[in-house]
Amino acid sequence: MQKLFETALEEAQKLHKTNPIVKDFVEFPDDCTWRDLEALPIPAASLMAKDLSLDSMETSRMRDAFIKPWEVACWRETYKDTNIGEDFLSRFACYELFGHEGHFQTHKARGFLVYSDANLYYPWHHHPAEELYFIIAGEASFATEGNAPKLLKPGDTVFHASNQPHNMQTHEKGVLAYVVWRNEFDIAPVLTDRLNG
Ligand SMILES: [Fe+2]
Repeated sequence: MQKLFETALEEAQKLHKTNPIVKDFVEFPDDCTWRDLEALPIPAASLMAKDLSLDSMETSRMRDAFIKPWEVACWRETYKDTNIGEDFLSRFACYELFGHEGHFQTHKARGFLVYSDANLYYPWHHHPAEELYFIIAGEASFATEGNAPKLLKPGDTVFHASNQPHNMQTHEKGVLAYVVWRNEFDIAPVLTDRLNG
């Protein structure tokens, strides 16, 4: 099981070496220490594993490495006790690869895998951490407050400033993204109620 996550971690590290935007955003943490997290299965994880719309070109190695631990990942339940709705909860998935709650522990940054099934809206939310999304596979439209949504495809990135509200909408394809946080990463995302009506 550890090996599965190590392969994903190696792919993330490679991206921090080769992609200038990811590289500039945060240095890959050099102190990642493996820890045994108990698997926390969720229905969306198996949707992801079966999702044939997650196409990618140069990033297919990263995609496969990040998907592979799907049965043993400790999937997060960030929005479990909110009013986000059952459909979102059953078709959106996120695990923390590295970070203070991740499969590898470090306090220097946090790195997540985020998956959304097709035709799903991830409502406005914000968090103090600065965030970079790197699209691994599939596609989705990303909006930040005051800016029109932009369709992002594999290899594209989007930056979210501290507490800047953002949302995401998938269309006919699902999306798989590598999400990195820097600074103030101890506070979880919250839904931006004033924008969600
Ligand atoms: Fe975010």
